[in-house]
Amino acid sequence: MGRAMTVLAVVLAVALAAALLAWTRARREALAAGAGLAELRHVLQRAETDRSRLVAALEGASDGLMVLDADGRIVAANAVASQLAHLSEHLAGRSLVDVLSWPGLQRALLATLASGRLETFELDADAGGGRVLLVRVLGMKGLGAVVGIDDQSRLRRLESLRRDFVANVSHELKTPLAAIQGFVETLQDDPDMPVATRLRFLDRIAVQTARLATLVADLLTLSRLDDEGRTVGEAEPVHVQTVVQDTVRDLLPLAEKRAVQLHPELPEPALLVAGEREALRQVVGNLVDNAIKYTPSGGRVDVVLAARGERLRLEVRDTGIGLSPEDCDRVFERFYRVDRARSRELGGTGLGLSIVKNTVKGLGGEVGVESELGRGSTFWVELPVVPPAAAGG
Ligand SMILES: Nc1ncnc2c1ncn2[C@@H]1O[C@H](COP(=O)(O)OP(=O)(O)OP(=O)(O)O)[C@@H](O)[C@H]1O
Ligand SMILES: [Mg+2]
Repeated sequence: MGRAMTVLAVVLAVALAAALLAWTRARREALAAGAGLAELRHVLQRAETDRSRLVAALEGASDGLMVLDADGRIVAANAVASQLAHLSEHLAGRSLVDVLSWPGLQRALLATLASGRLETFELDADAGGGRVLLVRVLGMKGLGAVVGIDDQSRLRRLESLRRDFVANVSHELKTPLAAIQGFVETLQDDPDMPVATRLRFLDRIAVQTARLATLVADLLTLSRLDDEGRTVGEAEPVHVQTVVQDTVRDLLPLAEKRAVQLHPELPEPALLVAGEREALRQVVGNLVDNAIKYTPSGGRVDVVLAARGERLRLEVRDTGIGLSPEDCDRVFERFYRVDRARSRELGGTGLGLSIVKNTVKGLGGEVGVESELGRGSTFWVELPVVPPAAAGG
């Protein structure tokens, strides 16, 4: 869609530019021909109205657009173009090649003015001020040219994220698979293996298989969240207190095993959220699971739910290992783990928090973390609530 929009924007700009330049010329010719005063005023008025409309349309375009006359001077440029090209406000009348030292620009300009064909070149990071810009130049015989500037940085970032993601997935799948393969080969190679050893190996295979299953389940959840975007499953009012209570109950054994105290603190009046119960359960479960996992024994985890006007706020506070400011910024990324070895040893895939983030976004809420290294963390979630009346009591 982005590409189609851009092409559309360029076509629009060409139409605008042709009109703009034609009117300028018409005005000059009318003046030169010595047209009557009333006639001249009429022509000027019409030209002015049309010009205002064109400028408004130019400004409204989401791409950077510039219109040049046949000498390569700037006739008009919209705000996006000025911003992308780091240009000052007073551009009109100046030569584009003077204000912009973009490699390729002069060549593209000359080529397109001669051929009338669309010339495209890319501008990499430094020249574009840390961005990747795609510049399209289209000449109109004798009239001038239109320059479209498109910021490609977002696209590039997405591409690199996807590449990282694929690399990460492959790596995460490879590790347990290699382990399983190793154990199986050892079992095959040694038919006389003592039963105890054999059982131990089978056990390890079971652990790695479970890990693979979790990983695949997490990936499926993520891709489902991606597909569905804002709407996660069926939106029916879910009683949040019940979800938190159930989740805490399910995780009590883990907390006990790790000698971490787990305390829920829930308000009386029912808080309802429009969403899928299972999705909400996953959010609370991931946050509480992390709080327990990353808190040394003897620590404490509080799960605090509170109403905040039209929203609710859920805080999962722990007295655990905490996070550095840089890690706070990154923990919601897919596969990000502060301590890979430790997380893996705890059975983690590094996908928990990215699932939380996606789900919360799908429910129209926000998620974040405040933390201090060595002291503990507070992960919070804010969600819009359904007014009890709308939920039918
Ligand atoms: N409460 C916390 N205290 C300290 N660090 C945390 C906390 N929660 C998460 N982290 C850090 O953020 C990382 C990412 O968390 P996330 O839940 O996404 O993955 P995980 O817990 O490693 O694995 P998974 O949740 O998939 O089992 C963790 O590996 C850990 O380093
Ligand atoms: Mg986790």
